[in-house]
Amino acid sequence: MIKMTRAATVGAAAAGLMAFLVPNVMASAPGHEHPAAPAPGGGPHSKPAPSAQTLRALAQQAGIRIGTAVNADALAAEAPYAAKVGAEFNSVTPENAMKWDAVEPTRGTYNYTQADQLVAYAKAHGQLVRGHTLVWHNQLPSWVTSGDFSAAELRDILHQHITAEVTHFKGKIWQWDVVNEAFNEDGTLRDSIWLQKLGPGYIADAFRWAHQADPKAVLFYNDYNDDGINAKSTAIYDLVAKLRKEGVPVQGVGIQGHLDVQYPAPHDIADNLARFDKLGVQTAITEADVRITLPADNTEVEAQNEAYQTLLEGCLLTRNCTDFTVWGFTDKYSWVPGTFSGEGQANIYDENYQPKTAYTAISQDLRLAGR
Ligand SMILES: *[C@@H]1O[C@H](CO)[C@@H](O)[C@H](O)[C@H]1NC(C)=O
Ligand SMILES: *[C@@H]1O[C@H](CO)[C@@H](O)[C@H](O)[C@H]1NC(C)=O
Repeated sequence: MIKMTRAATVGAAAAGLMAFLVPNVMASAPGHEHPAAPAPGGGPHSKPAPSAQTLRALAQQAGIRIGTAVNADALAAEAPYAAKVGAEFNSVTPENAMKWDAVEPTRGTYNYTQADQLVAYAKAHGQLVRGHTLVWHNQLPSWVTSGDFSAAELRDILHQHITAEVTHFKGKIWQWDVVNEAFNEDGTLRDSIWLQKLGPGYIADAFRWAHQADPKAVLFYNDYNDDGINAKSTAIYDLVAKLRKEGVPVQGVGIQGHLDVQYPAPHDIADNLARFDKLGVQTAITEADVRITLPADNTEVEAQNEAYQTLLEGCLLTRNCTDFTVWGFTDKYSWVPGTFSGEGQANIYDENYQPKTAYTAISQDLRLAGR
């Protein structure tokens, strides 16, 4: 096992890179333990090492993975898109291709076409795959939401869906987002179809069923607005602590990291992540992007750079933070304009695949952390 030193810059990036280095000796990088990880050094068929300046090369030196959500249509159709995914990132997350409506559009009929394509792409490019997501209240097919099932039937449907999907990808997924966005901002459980019909026990059930289907995948709870210490992140902390005490196989917490420059960046993210370290679970930044009300001015662009650095530095300062994933890398394909009216430019590349200053900011933090 390679000994890795992780160091990170601390403090507001806007104040300049007044960094102090926090040595953080890791016996092994947690991200490299899963059997799905490509063999270090590679075999005769391994790809040549990426250039030292790519994000993935810098992240490797810093002891974390850097990932992107991948748009399956763009990956298949657009060569410059695919080239960037392969060159710059060493983990990938399907943006939509593993969600319930994509995978099981009609009951019992599974379609893994696009997800399989991404998994094959990742294998060919030495990337790990974050599976996303098994239990969520959104992007459910209508046969689930309008089926008027009894509690017992719905529980069986959920069990079957998790078992089928996790089994299909067994051995190929590094981290699974098993349960996604189960909490409200005030720390109460979201009133989803799952809570309404199955009660709060659906969360533990989902982790147990996923673990049965692929015991080696690292199982995550994933949510947004849980970057800093607040009612929601504390409720997640309390739930994960309780589940682990009960022996439920939850092994990671995902911080989505969807930020907006209108609000302050979560400067207490390292304190939040540190408490999950103490619980003995991994963490990851799973869906980072930072949206701006258009047109963007220089102040907003600087705030965006700082927000990306705040998230990344939080991860770099946390021993068991294993991955920093951006929710798409190019403004050409972003969920933001379609969801937040008048906002956009949330990603680290522009629409023409040119790196933005946020890309440079991330590179600088990774470079400093790797020394
Ligand atoms: C499966 O999904 C792919 C990609 O979305 C689609 O092109 C194909 O028609 C689907 N297959 C079936 C049998 O529905
Ligand atoms: C980190 O994760 C490992 C398992 O992945 C766990 O044993 C350990 O307790 C975690 N926390 C710290 C601070 O090492």
